[in-house]
Amino acid sequence: MPEILQYEHVNIAYGSRHVVRDVSFSLKKGQILGIAGESGCGKTTLIRAAMGLLGAGGRTSSGKILFEGLDLTRLTPKERRSVNGDRLAMIFQNPAAYFCPVRKTGTQLYEAVRAHQKIPRGEFTKQAAALLEKTGFKDPEQILEKYPFELSGGMMQRIAVACAMLSRPQVLLADEPTSALDAAVQKQVLDLLLSVRNEYGTSVLIVSHNLGIIRAVADMAVVMKDGMVTESGPAASLLSHPSHEYTRELLAAEPRLRRSL
Ligand SMILES: Nc1ncnc2c1ncn2[C@@H]1O[C@H](COP(=O)(O)OP(=O)(O)O)[C@@H](O)[C@H]1O
Ligand SMILES: [Mg+2]
Repeated sequence: MPEILQYEHVNIAYGSRHVVRDVSFSLKKGQILGIAGESGCGKTTLIRAAMGLLGAGGRTSSGKILFEGLDLTRLTPKERRSVNGDRLAMIFQNPAAYFCPVRKTGTQLYEAVRAHQKIPRGEFTKQAAALLEKTGFKDPEQILEKYPFELSGGMMQRIAVACAMLSRPQVLLADEPTSALDAAVQKQVLDLLLSVRNEYGTSVLIVSHNLGIIRAVADMAVVMKDGMVTESGPAASLLSHPSHEYTRELLAAEPRLRRSL
C-alpha cells in the first residue's frame, strides 16, 4: 500500500526548547497508525505540526511532513486552506470544549463545514444525518437540533467523527479521542474509527497515552519517549512482544486497561 503521510526526521521546538527530535514514521493508505507514549512526550505536538497549529512559539525546525506531494510544515496559507478540514481532518480529546454551549449543535457544525466547503444547509443536514445514522444515532436530525449540553461526551465525539468525515478526508488525525470518555463509550468511538477506515478507506493517525487504545484499533504502532521514537512496528506484535524496555514499562503500568479492552 502506498504511503499517504510521512514524517521524515521531524524536529519541533517551542521557543528554544526542542520537544520532538528526529521523528520518522509513515502512515499507509487505509491504515490505522497509533502513537503511544506518556503525557508530555510530544504526541499532540506531532499532530499540531501536521495541521499547522503549533501556535506562535512553535516551529518545525527541520524535517518534513509529506502529504500528497506537499510538505505540511511549509504550506502557503492558500494550500493550508485547501488541506485542513477537507483532505486532512482532525478530532480532539474533548469535543465539547470546541462547541459553544448556547447554540444548536447542527448550526455550529454547519458553520464549521461551510468554512471550507460550499454546501447549502438542507444538503448539509441530509449528509450529516446520513453519517450520524452510520455512527449509531437513531434520530440523527433531532441530534442536530440539540444543544451541546444535551449530549454526552461519547455522543459529541461520534458527532465530531461524523463531521470530520463529511468532506471524505484522506487522513483523520485523532488526538486522544477517547481519553475523556469512560471505558464502555471508548469502545463505541474506537469501533466507529474502525468502521470509518473500513467503509471509506480513510487513513487514521491516532495518538494516546493509553496502549490499550492503540492495541484495540491500530495496525501499526509507534512508541515515543521524551520527543523521540523508541520503537515502531506492527501493533499486535509490538504490543504483545515489545523489544524495548520502555514499551514493557508502559505495558506493565496499564493492567486494568489491558483487561477492559
Ligand atoms: N504551546 C506550547 N508552548 C511551549 N511548550 C509546549 C507547548 N505545547 C506543548 N509544550 C511542551 O511540549 C512537550 C510535548 O507536549 P505535547 O505534545 O502536548 O505532549 P503529549 O501530547 O504527548 O502529552 C511538553 O513538554 C509540553 O510541556
Ligand atoms: Mg497530548
